[in-house]
Amino acid sequence: MNETLRKVKVWDGWLRLFHWLIVVLVIAQYVTAELSLMEWHFRFGYLVLALLVFRLGWGLMGSETARFARFLKSPLDAIAHLRHLRQREPDIEVGHNAAGGWMVLLLLALLLGQVGSGLFANEEPGESYAAHGPFALRVADSLSAWLTEWHELGFNLLVIAIALHVTAVVAYAVLKRQDLVRPMITGFKRLPASVPAPRLGHPLVALALLALGLALVWWLSMQAA
Ligand code: HEM
Repeated sequence: MNETLRKVKVWDGWLRLFHWLIVVLVIAQYVTAELSLMEWHFRFGYLVLALLVFRLGWGLMGSETARFARFLKSPLDAIAHLRHLRQREPDIEVGHNAAGGWMVLLLLALLLGQVGSGLFANEEPGESYAAHGPFALRVADSLSAWLTEWHELGFNLLVIAIALHVTAVVAYAVLKRQDLVRPMITGFKRLPASVPAPRLGHPLVALALLALGLALVWWLSMQAA
């Protein structure tokens, strides 16, 4: 394709901030759990939840490339996309591709599952002295035990999904010579002039969604006190 290229903002700052904060927080959650720094594990968990509330809202009313309706394609489209994985071709994708969209959904669902189960998890189900999530003692011991198991299993699934996610990013760089990481850092891609730039979400909507997420976790932490 010999079309002129132009710089297009494909990822807004809010989404990039969300992404890299989540990366740092997932690592922090692992480290704090390993070192039994549970106070920090809970604080970071609340922050992940606030960010997820923001991301779900932004997926409905944020920038075009962040919207679920825009990037969730049929599984057949995803398979068709993967068939071209080994083909070297210029990057004309404005947002997530058909296969990447499903990976995004999986990562968000696993993160949500981790936060949700963590709220009810208990190292020693039923025992108040053991490290436990803020609502662990409010539910039946059997439910808390089940959610604790899910919290542990869920983390392993999340690690597998993250490994797949990073492998896909590397595969795009190696097989297709497409650099997906730089746009996730800078926000910009060089795209053919005929590809329309996506509409960006309003900053006030982003701030309102962040405020909603933080208010929700503040309320949750008050319930737990
Ligand atoms: C804890 C580890 C990670 C998690 C949980 C994670 C999660 C996600 C999520 C949820 C998205 C979708 C963004 C959105 O629409 O909200 C995404 C996209 C992306 N991530 Fe990650 N990520 C992780 C690590 C990484 C790393 C280490 C890299 C770079 C090497 C990376 C590169 C990217 C890129 C390039 C995209 C955009 C893909 C595209 O062009 O469609 N991620 N990631």
